[in-house]
Amino acid sequence: MNHYPLTGNSSAKLTGIGTYVPERILTNCELEQMVDTNDEWIVQRTGISERRIAGPHEYSSDLAVQAVIDLQRRFNKEVDDVDFIIVATSTADYSFPSTATRIQDYFEIKRTGAMDLGAACAGFVYGLHLANAMISSGLQRKILVVGTETLSKITDYTDRSTCILFGDGAGAVLVEADTENPGFYGSSWFLTEGGEGRQLYRTALSEEWKDTQLSGNGKLVQNGREVYKWAVRNIPEGMQELLRQNQLGFDDIDWFVPHSANLRMIESICEKSGFPIERTLYSMVHYGNTSAASIPLAIDLGIKQNKLQSGDSLMLIGFGGGLVAAGLIVRWN
Ligand code: UT7
Repeated sequence: MNHYPLTGNSSAKLTGIGTYVPERILTNCELEQMVDTNDEWIVQRTGISERRIAGPHEYSSDLAVQAVIDLQRRFNKEVDDVDFIIVATSTADYSFPSTATRIQDYFEIKRTGAMDLGAACAGFVYGLHLANAMISSGLQRKILVVGTETLSKITDYTDRSTCILFGDGAGAVLVEADTENPGFYGSSWFLTEGGEGRQLYRTALSEEWKDTQLSGNGKLVQNGREVYKWAVRNIPEGMQELLRQNQLGFDDIDWFVPHSANLRMIESICEKSGFPIERTLYSMVHYGNTSAASIPLAIDLGIKQNKLQSGDSLMLIGFGGGLVAAGLIVRWN
């Protein structure tokens, strides 16, 4: 495909990726023993066959560290000189200190900024947006963006409407400055509807939503049908907006990588928008819904399956708790 430059005056580009999932596999058949469900229902409604579950002493920062080690090994990259570490997660090891500081400490990165960001399943795309802005400002040159989740720790395994969905995993990318070859990043789309927040949340300090039909007890709660409808209603519009900003058509996009919440939902989005499902990358079949990790896991599967090639353009759209959605177009280097 034609490798046109993207607009947006960006001097940032993606230069490496690494991923990690825990060893333990939780299959649909095992879930049949835990709640009133069955493999056929789960596959038919979600496309999910299995998911990975972190060990009792394995946390989001541990998965993130393994993803960064994978990136270093495969792309021959040093991380001790990164200027900033951005971690997207809804399952931080602690409220504070941030998961990003755990990564800094493990790799002994002496001088860096480190922070977590909260944008649920859209968090990884938010992280890429921030990294681009920081690098294109000229103030930073090398940034680690990580999406990592141990959702199994906040999943209610007596609630069949959610426990069949979620899994654990992590993905990390390196975003670096390249002032000589700009144009790897372009187009930005955000949508936030806080009024719909009660459709997907984890109870914390506020009790405000506790008297609704969804009650969490510290676990994740979701009105799946409403989130499904919201996403299928809004994501196709976001896709059009991303194209419009670069005066592109769907033929110019090599791969569409939406958040991997549910394969049926991605099929509906493709059908509604007219984007061919064959050019979509997703990760839920073997990993379940891994929230902020789902998009880097899907990109990496695309690389490992020899689908994604250097120079290919990606349309990334994350969406979820908030409700929030974020999209961008970026070229894989
Ligand atoms: O990552 C953040 C973003 N999240 C999402 O994007 C999630 C989007 N939503 C979804 O993926 C889907 O809505 C679900 C997979 C969560 C649910 O699928 P659905 O097709 O929307 O099913 P539903 O909630 O409308 O439920 C249909 C029926 C209900 O039974 P009745 O009322 O028709 O008798 C449910 O009780 O299926 C029942 N059901 C189940 N049956 C067997 C719900 N969960 C299960 C289950 N096994 N695990």
